[in-house]
Amino acid sequence: MVELNISRTSSFISESEMRAITPLVEQAHNTVDLKNGEGSDFLGFVELPKNFDRDEFERIKVCAERIKSNSEILVVIGIGGSYLGARSAIELLCGQFHNTLNKNVPQILFAGNNISASYHKDIIELCKDKDFSVNVISKSGTTTEPAIAFRIFRKLLEEKYGAEEAAKRIYCTTDKARGALKKTADNNGYETFVIPDDIGGRYSVLTPVGLLPMAVAGIDIDEVMSGAFDAMKNFSAFSMDNPTCKYAAVRNLLYGKGKAIEVFTAYEPRFAMFNEWLKQLFGESEGKDNKGIFPASMINSTDLHSMGQYIQEGRRNLFETVMNIKHDGKAEIIIPQDDENGDGMSFLDYKNLEFVNHKACDGTILAHCDGGVPVISISVDEMNAYNYGYLVYFFEKSCAISGYVSAVNPFNQPGVEGYKNNMYALLGKPGYEELADVLHKRLAE
Ligand code: PA5
Repeated sequence: MVELNISRTSSFISESEMRAITPLVEQAHNTVDLKNGEGSDFLGFVELPKNFDRDEFERIKVCAERIKSNSEILVVIGIGGSYLGARSAIELLCGQFHNTLNKNVPQILFAGNNISASYHKDIIELCKDKDFSVNVISKSGTTTEPAIAFRIFRKLLEEKYGAEEAAKRIYCTTDKARGALKKTADNNGYETFVIPDDIGGRYSVLTPVGLLPMAVAGIDIDEVMSGAFDAMKNFSAFSMDNPTCKYAAVRNLLYGKGKAIEVFTAYEPRFAMFNEWLKQLFGESEGKDNKGIFPASMINSTDLHSMGQYIQEGRRNLFETVMNIKHDGKAEIIIPQDDENGDGMSFLDYKNLEFVNHKACDGTILAHCDGGVPVISISVDEMNAYNYGYLVYFFEKSCAISGYVSAVNPFNQPGVEGYKNNMYALLGKPGYEELADVLHKRLAE
């Protein structure tokens, strides 16, 4: 279950302001419910936990077992919404050292999320003498980064195993019928999984996009979907006690008061990729029409030693959303006693490390509040597959409501084309000649 605590925002937001925004939040919630707003053809995520394709779900499990039995590595190729969710789930649930520690399942390596030659050279090196499979994920099938990476790893597979065996090791997650990747998959007999038409990239983690890599990593995907299903039920009706509505209300009120940056903060490093997923979810959904809260990430206490100063005393234009696992249960480490007490830390003798981390979190929240930073807390009892599904659904629905409250279409990303067009022009893509001339002149200035 997810608990939302907004008490540390009360000195920044009055009850009357909460009352005043309620009709807008209700309208936004209803727009999601009735599917009658801008971008409503991408609201498939709302009922996905109930409507997902059960046959395909079982096929995901079968393929995951096949990959586990014949591969030491699964290379997951994708970018943005086609990789962040899977990676966030695996790091959050299996830990950041899963590739070294989890000996019973294949290592999961993520490619095609950048265009770095050295990054991909390292993955090639890691795969060279190992049995591996590839899961390429791209709804459009034409995104530059994963398309290039797929060429590289497909060639590697074919050189290693021959075309026929390579084909059995390639799993394509893409659009049902349209798109270049679907065509390639059909032409070559690759196994395919569907990203539903009505689910956009950043809302797709609970589709095969996230579920196949999760299943290969040993995550119980039944539990993930069961958590999402309960969240769907619990968050379905409008009420200002519905945490998705409350969270959407508070962040929009804070934004209205000049708090234009939301810092997603966690005290467990394995939230790092989850925060990246959140950055995409909120940044791409709300950052348009010259508005939007800028999402940032902090992993504490690490970042308190780099960004802590700014959060405490810098420009007062931010608020924090702190992610908290109440009982981690994953590890107990007792701090050893040391008679010498050279570091002056004997007051911590025999204390549990998790206890110290929680106190660091509590103390920091109060210090930041005193420094003029409103803090929203989001807690889960423990971090397991069920709660992961629950949390993902919570944020997806909150984001959709919040986007409608701020009067943007939370499901498009027109601005992403800007860099793509320039990149295509500079790389000589046919059809971009005129733009290339303009850009080359500008670059020469
Ligand atoms: O949220 C989105 O739609 C984007 O971030 C996409 O997921 C990302 O650009 C990758 O697109 P595709 O899956 O078509 O390769």
